[in-house]
Amino acid sequence: MNIHDNWTSIEHIRAEIDMMISDDTVFDAIATRKEEIDALKEAWRWRVELLKSGPLEAVYRDFGDVLSMRNPLEPILRGVSGSYVASDNKGVSRYIVKPVDEGQFCLNNPKKLATPFKGDEYKHQYCSGMTLYGGGERTSMFYDMAEILGMPGIVPPTFLAIVSSEAFHDISGIDGPKEKLCSCQEFINDAEDIYAFLTKIMKSETTVEEFSVMIPRRDFENIMILTWLGYMGDCHVYNFLVTPPYCEDTHNGLFKIKKIDNERVFPEKSYSMKNNLLTDFEFIHKYNPLTLSSRFKIEKLPSGKIIERMKFYGLENSVAAFEERVGVLQKLLDGDVMTIEEIDVRMYLLGKAEKKGLGNEIAFFPIEELEKIFET
Ligand SMILES: Nc1ncnc2c1ncn2[C@@H]1O[C@H](COP(=O)(O)OP(=O)(O)O)[C@@H](O)[C@H]1O
Ligand SMILES: [Mg+2]
Repeated sequence: MNIHDNWTSIEHIRAEIDMMISDDTVFDAIATRKEEIDALKEAWRWRVELLKSGPLEAVYRDFGDVLSMRNPLEPILRGVSGSYVASDNKGVSRYIVKPVDEGQFCLNNPKKLATPFKGDEYKHQYCSGMTLYGGGERTSMFYDMAEILGMPGIVPPTFLAIVSSEAFHDISGIDGPKEKLCSCQEFINDAEDIYAFLTKIMKSETTVEEFSVMIPRRDFENIMILTWLGYMGDCHVYNFLVTPPYCEDTHNGLFKIKKIDNERVFPEKSYSMKNNLLTDFEFIHKYNPLTLSSRFKIEKLPSGKIIERMKFYGLENSVAAFEERVGVLQKLLDGDVMTIEEIDVRMYLLGKAEKKGLGNEIAFFPIEELEKIFET
């Protein structure tokens, strides 16, 4: 095995591996990671069985049918994780499959972003308190939260499964099928990412107002609520897909946004949130306050149900941070009416409070005071 073939080109990780290689630490780390990856899969096996008879029963059955067609999983070259497409016999892409040990900075990442170590600095780049191999349960939880909150169609059905495929990457270079714990998601066909979509629109004669109203306000607000509650750290423009109006599930002839790649959510501490949909684009919706129905969703948030689900996924350590966000969000709605943009800034600042020696009260400071704090 030539270990360097597998490792990342990110300098600090490469340097760490080079340093450790001489004293076999790297091989010990590989062995430990392999044991952990196997143990994780086994720990999830019974819960995956439980999930199969839950609300996604029909999706699991369909997924099983597609896999039983035995078409090879096709690796997706795009992105930073190991991702594969499962297709049916008509050649239609049906599911995306992401093994949890092929995520960014995980042992078997096939895109030169692998390491056998679990260095704190990698976790830091992700989010404080997010386990490197824990993307599967987080992304499933994100989908479940959208369902609990009655936001159908925003997040494609996402679920954990144990899948066997020859296509999966393993640093040992073993041939044959490898059985892995994976996060799986319905594949959205006929979609383009929002960057391509908006670039096209901006090149046309369409005004900001015109393109804004092509995206339903309700969907826009639902995405905001999910981002705030989950403290989503991965909202860049390639992680939104847009389906055109001729798609069946699009209502009122409007475009529909789907949020994919939801692994960086529910951190143990609200540390880093990115909301590029709002910061990078001039959707007019953001200059409005939340609609009454969104306000109602937040005011009457079924936190207990969401927390129960988080516990099922082993996300107990993320509950306190979630509860804090709910509290702050509800309190923000209590005061003077704010625009979505202002709520977003305040939710974002929660993650910066600690560095400034402050707590969640930062969300309620007058804007002028916040500007002063963040100038320094
Ligand atoms: N549900 C989906 N439907 C269609 N395409 C998808 C879906 N999920 C991911 N993809 C495609 O696969 C690419 C990589 O997936 P993503 O989940 O974003 O992985 P990464 O962690 O590597 O960023 C995406 O940019 C997108 O093109
Ligand atoms: Mg992505």
